[in-house]
Amino acid sequence: MTEVETVHDPAFDPELVDVDMHLVPPTAPVEATVVRNELCLRGKSASFVRHVCIDVAGTPLEGAFKAGQSFGIIPPGEDHNGKPHKVRLYSIASPTRGEDGEGRILSTTCKRLIDEYQPQSDDDPTRGLFVGVCSNYVCDLRPGDTVLVTGPAGKRFVLPKQPDRHDYLMLATGTGIAPFRGMVLDLLEGAGGPTTGEIHLVMGAPYTSDLLYDDLFRELAERHSNFHYHTVVSREVMADGTRGGYIHHYLDRQVFLHDDLLRRDRTLMYICGLAGMQTGVFQTMARLGVGGQYLKVKDELAGVDPADWTGEQIKRHVRPTHRCMLEVY
Ligand code: FAD
Ligand code: A2P
Repeated sequence: MTEVETVHDPAFDPELVDVDMHLVPPTAPVEATVVRNELCLRGKSASFVRHVCIDVAGTPLEGAFKAGQSFGIIPPGEDHNGKPHKVRLYSIASPTRGEDGEGRILSTTCKRLIDEYQPQSDDDPTRGLFVGVCSNYVCDLRPGDTVLVTGPAGKRFVLPKQPDRHDYLMLATGTGIAPFRGMVLDLLEGAGGPTTGEIHLVMGAPYTSDLLYDDLFRELAERHSNFHYHTVVSREVMADGTRGGYIHHYLDRQVFLHDDLLRRDRTLMYICGLAGMQTGVFQTMARLGVGGQYLKVKDELAGVDPADWTGEQIKRHVRPTHRCMLEVY
């Protein structure tokens, strides 16, 4: 049994950048214009993920979003109750300066939600494909199309005000890479010049073909010696014959990540992607004895082996500290 042995020391908590929030509320969305929409996968894949650029010039969103924040999109039409569709949130994939350098164009990384329909009750007769409303609407948009947007949203999943005071471990699964595209670009090519901090970005995807913005991250890693890009491909076999596994297996395997990076007082951790990905990550950190600065474990879990923590227990009894930013959906 491993206890989370280190007590969190708030002296090393970051001061996060100031953000604007809800300048455009869902009750009064504004019209923006799509300017680009292209696949951003590494190859031919069973998934469809698109990099979508939206011009928000002339709206309150212009110049008002920070890397790491989200914005809302309201798809047209009505839901099955005849009510207008609700807003869906999408992470901003742009740096704070926007895609255009002027804060007028923001982008996101949208994955089409497509699946076999799962019956919602024993007598649900529906069959066939389940096609998510907003994600497919967004992926179908063409340059010139208008779209209703809201935001910005989120104040915790952003960079610190003094980026050089920190090192970074960023863990992404799937479209969870979106905010990291913007944050890494801010850190390496933002207004304050490249950060001197060390950045490790770990991207989890099912197949190599599903790696998102892979060219960009490889190129950035070549140009910036303090930026390290790691890929963890869950369904492919690695050179040693084992499967790549999940990002927490990688964290476990890569001793320098947990034994060096996570033990430093200056490191911040950012986790974004699939709901549930924090379970394995938090269990692994606790087991390795590096959770203390990043996780506050409530008394209810005292004496329980981290390997036995359930997703539900983690949700209720494990809170990220100010050095750990979590965004899962
Ligand atoms: P919907 O039409 O809303 O369908 C989803 C719902 O349908 C689910 O709630 C589920 O209950 C149900 N459902 C799902 N599958 C099935 C099935 N097989 N059978 C029956 N019912 C089913 N998404 C991105 O792609 N990129 C991002 O950057 C991104 N960032 C986000 C940031 C935040 C902070 C949050 C909260 C979410 C983010 N999302 C992102 C998710 C996004 O908001 C939407 O939830 C997603 O695009 C699906 O919306 P949809 O309208 O296509 O699906
Ligand atoms: P797998 O699908 O092999 O189970 P995408 O969103 O493109 O599908 O990618 C999500 C990635 O995260 C996949 O590699 C997926 O693996 C992996 N994954 C699924 N569940 C978890 C989890 N609980 N923790 C970490 N990674 C996960």
